[in-house]
Amino acid sequence: MHINPFSNPWEHVRLLSDASRNRAMINTVVHHSPHKRVLEVGCGTGLLSCIAARAGATRVYAVEATDMVYVARDLVRRNGLQDVVEVIAGMVEDVEPKPVDFAFSELLHGDPFTEGVVGASNAMARWVVEGGLLSPSLLTVYAALVPAAGPEWEVRAAEAELARHSENFNLDLGAISEVMRSGTSHVYNSSGEVPVGPAVEVYRVTLGDGKPLPAPIDLVLEVAEAGPVSGVMVWFVARMDEHTDLGNPPRNPGHWGHHVCAFGRELEGTRGQRVAVRFHIKGKRLEVELLDDLG
Ligand SMILES: C[S@@+](CC[C@H](N)C(=O)[O-])C[C@H]1O[C@@H](n2cnc3c(N)ncnc32)[C@H](O)[C@@H]1O
Repeated sequence: MHINPFSNPWEHVRLLSDASRNRAMINTVVHHSPHKRVLEVGCGTGLLSCIAARAGATRVYAVEATDMVYVARDLVRRNGLQDVVEVIAGMVEDVEPKPVDFAFSELLHGDPFTEGVVGASNAMARWVVEGGLLSPSLLTVYAALVPAAGPEWEVRAAEAELARHSENFNLDLGAISEVMRSGTSHVYNSSGEVPVGPAVEVYRVTLGDGKPLPAPIDLVLEVAEAGPVSGVMVWFVARMDEHTDLGNPPRNPGHWGHHVCAFGRELEGTRGQRVAVRFHIKGKRLEVELLDDLG
């Protein structure tokens, strides 16, 4: 069973704590809502839909997939906005489209594809009338090599633990040690990684164009600062409109953090070393596989 984490109010606390994200979203909403019919997909608490109404939207459809619809409806009622804002429960993909002039969402995540922004934007585009605006309209994904030292540190710490327990309990724990050192790649979220090489553009996705998730792509990444390299960090820039970009660049990721794909083994990371990797969206998760150390 898949449980949508956004049914937990804590997820909304986290994103509402991000002032830079909030500012970008509110600027976009306030700029484009006056005298417009508006769709918000994934309204969560309902805050941005209510702001759209306050900014002068003539109608707001606020679609939300989780039980947060009850919070959003309460917010609308307490502010007397029932005549403008309609909170609709469900996935936008399952809701009958109505004509709107401006459709927006914030379906982003450290892994830019995992919240389903590509599929949801395709569904949203069916609501937008000729000349209307879908926001965001473009999603660009970047990547760079990183030390990803955390997993290596964890393996070493776990090995030290196993050595103690092996002695204390007279157990052969080789089966665990071997699997820990088997080079299994894995993904995690981190705010502490800093690129050790130049950024490459991985995907440039026009949202709402009806296309499926992008296909796998092989790229070569480079080491610029010498030191061990164990993975790839990913970040995104979402174009909300001609004035506003939303993203989680290196050193300033906001509440999103960064999606890091660890190779499961450490490369030496000499200056100028080139590493071939494959980017692949499996389900809705972006994974990066180490193909070749090109030296
Ligand atoms: C990152 S939160 C943003 C909440 C709100 N828009 C804000 O900015 O404060 C994304 C929300 O979208 C909802 N959601 C994700 N995919 C959806 C879909 N396809 N249809 C409807 N709601 C969706 C999630 O349940 C979650 O509440």
